[in-house]
Amino acid sequence: MLQDRNILHDAKPQFAVIADQHVADLHLRTLLGALPAGVRAFTFPPGETSKSLPATMGLYDQLAAGRFERSGVIIAFGGGVAGDLAGFIAATWQRGVRFVQVPTTLLAAVDASVGGKTGVNLSAGKNLVGAFHQPIAVIIDTDFLTTLPDRDFRAGLAETVKQAAIRDPGFLVWHEAHAELLAARHPETIETLISRNCALKAEIVALDERESGLRAILNYGHTIGHALEHLLEYELRHGECVALGMLVENEIAARRGELSRVEADRIRALLSRLGLPLQLPRPVAATEVTAACRTDKKVRDQAINFVLLHAIGQPWQTADVTDAEIAAAMAVVQP
Ligand code: GLY
Repeated sequence: MLQDRNILHDAKPQFAVIADQHVADLHLRTLLGALPAGVRAFTFPPGETSKSLPATMGLYDQLAAGRFERSGVIIAFGGGVAGDLAGFIAATWQRGVRFVQVPTTLLAAVDASVGGKTGVNLSAGKNLVGAFHQPIAVIIDTDFLTTLPDRDFRAGLAETVKQAAIRDPGFLVWHEAHAELLAARHPETIETLISRNCALKAEIVALDERESGLRAILNYGHTIGHALEHLLEYELRHGECVALGMLVENEIAARRGELSRVEADRIRALLSRLGLPLQLPRPVAATEVTAACRTDKKVRDQAINFVLLHAIGQPWQTADVTDAEIAAAMAVVQP
């Protein structure tokens, strides 16, 4: 997905790679081999704690020392943290420079790298400082995924199931037909998965880049998912929490009679076949979940916003889910 063909015609574009140290150890040599000589690479320690203003400042200082110019191109290399952090630096360096996403995790390939959301965390919450800044290209080389642990790979599948469930019933059927190949990481199946998924996500983003309406459907599974991620202190992967979030949110919709039990069970069965968790590793009090939901960015006037399904492919947004409904639905994932 190359959006700015000028990059191909620049006489000598200056590139700076911003990479997670772990990914750099594994793959930086390969990436640099595909770029002109002399490209500078800046690394940061792996993990969510690097998505911070201090890490951003450190990287700004390194770009300044390297005299990185406004005509340059930043390459974000790694998982979601690399994309969000390097993207935020690209959005703000000299009021904005071009950047390219080269995701190396399935989660980043199918979600974070497409759509232009960039940002860093504050101690008050995730992604509280950021900018919409579209990459000029997203380059996904599935060879980089071969070093991804199985658990992280499966966690990425939760986002593709989510995308299918909110927008494309045929893609959900495709997941069902290919579940074993997906779980086994069959290369051609993974390529089809990524390309169908990214086209779907790009279509949603193109219709509502700034999330004033439609794009919010991508938050299906995330209201509860983010709360669980925080309450379990990041013991579970983001995608695992999204899988659990979809189960709880489907239960809310099913108890209201809005989503049929048959469709809720289809999504549950698919998540199970893909090796995603159906239960929490330890009990989490429903009161803690509702309190955590209220600290989310999606809260308006203290109302918790949910994306629920009427049916697969038919999401709707609501702010009238009660704490009692959340508590009752949480039972489906309690151990
Ligand atoms: N990850 C949700 C979005 O890009 O809007």
